[in-house]
Amino acid sequence: MNYLDTTKNIYKEAALTPDVGLCCTTTPIWKFPGLEIPKIMQEMNYGCGSTVNPRDLAHNPTVLYVGVGGGMELLQFSYFSRKEGGVVGIDVVDEMLEASKKNFKIAETQNAWFKPEFVVLKKGDALQLPVEDESIDVAAQNCLFNIFKTDDLKKALQEMYRVLKPHGRLVMSDPTCEQVMNENLRNDNRLRALCLSGSIPIAEYVKMLTDVGFGTIEIRGRRPYRILDPKHYDTDTLIYIESIEVCAIKDPLPVDGPCVFTGKAAIYFGDDDFIDDHKGHILLKNQPLAVCDKTAKALASLKRDDIFISESTWHYDGGGCC
Ligand SMILES: C[S@@+](CC[C@H](N)C(=O)[O-])C[C@H]1O[C@@H](n2cnc3c(N)ncnc32)[C@H](O)[C@@H]1O
Repeated sequence: MNYLDTTKNIYKEAALTPDVGLCCTTTPIWKFPGLEIPKIMQEMNYGCGSTVNPRDLAHNPTVLYVGVGGGMELLQFSYFSRKEGGVVGIDVVDEMLEASKKNFKIAETQNAWFKPEFVVLKKGDALQLPVEDESIDVAAQNCLFNIFKTDDLKKALQEMYRVLKPHGRLVMSDPTCEQVMNENLRNDNRLRALCLSGSIPIAEYVKMLTDVGFGTIEIRGRRPYRILDPKHYDTDTLIYIESIEVCAIKDPLPVDGPCVFTGKAAIYFGDDDFIDDHKGHILLKNQPLAVCDKTAKALASLKRDDIFISESTWHYDGGGCC
């Protein structure tokens, strides 16, 4: 059986019998005024972080969510979009679509603001989305794309890029791993489907996004996720897996390369009130300016002794250069 079919079977089981420990997120569940997440949706939280960020969700956006799980994040997105068909959920597993449909019925009884027509659930594959070109403001996936092997991951990202409007946002949460994972782990279809052995390093993940054409990338969070240890897994070394929250914006690619924000900041502490690098960046004295990695490198190359550039915090939250 190929790994995509193994994946479908595993999530069919996870739809029929909710499995609280299937994925693990240390991100607390968003609480907004009047938003009640049904218990079953929390038990079927198969994500590894959050893709919901109010900053992305002004002006009642149309949201596409691929890989619906129990529907929790779709409910959170619909809290912001609040319009008919505002959230479109796509999943390849019939049983998962059925389970989330049931969960939305419960959500309806607990959330006075929620109307069933806010969320449309459709059968479809992340590798060939049944969605029109440039029709989506915010596209999201949580803990699905890490399962895909390189060629499929490329296809899935190209599909998300295709359906987004210009300047639309792809928000994702996925495991990543900076260590080498041996081929036995990589080719273990079950572990891959369980989001344990498909993850790649952050730099590779970012490159896949920029290769598809996204001009701006924001790494918004980086958290501990799982350990694969020699006692329980086919590995000689302890493998540490993290999870990241990423936003890729469909901005045109700048001629000098993408803007990748990893949480760096520049602080000017010289004698003037500010300095201007004449490339669009003004650094006010003693005021940290969030900078993308490209700007950080350009400022460092000036070799000034009155500019400090911080390391990546991996928790970028908007503002700054570019
Ligand atoms: C790890 S679960 C994540 C569920 C949800 N995003 C969450 O955070 O709880 C992966 C989801 O992707 C769905 N899925 C698996 N393969 C898929 C594919 N090729 N296309 C679309 N959905 C898929 C599964 O049925 C399941 O709902």
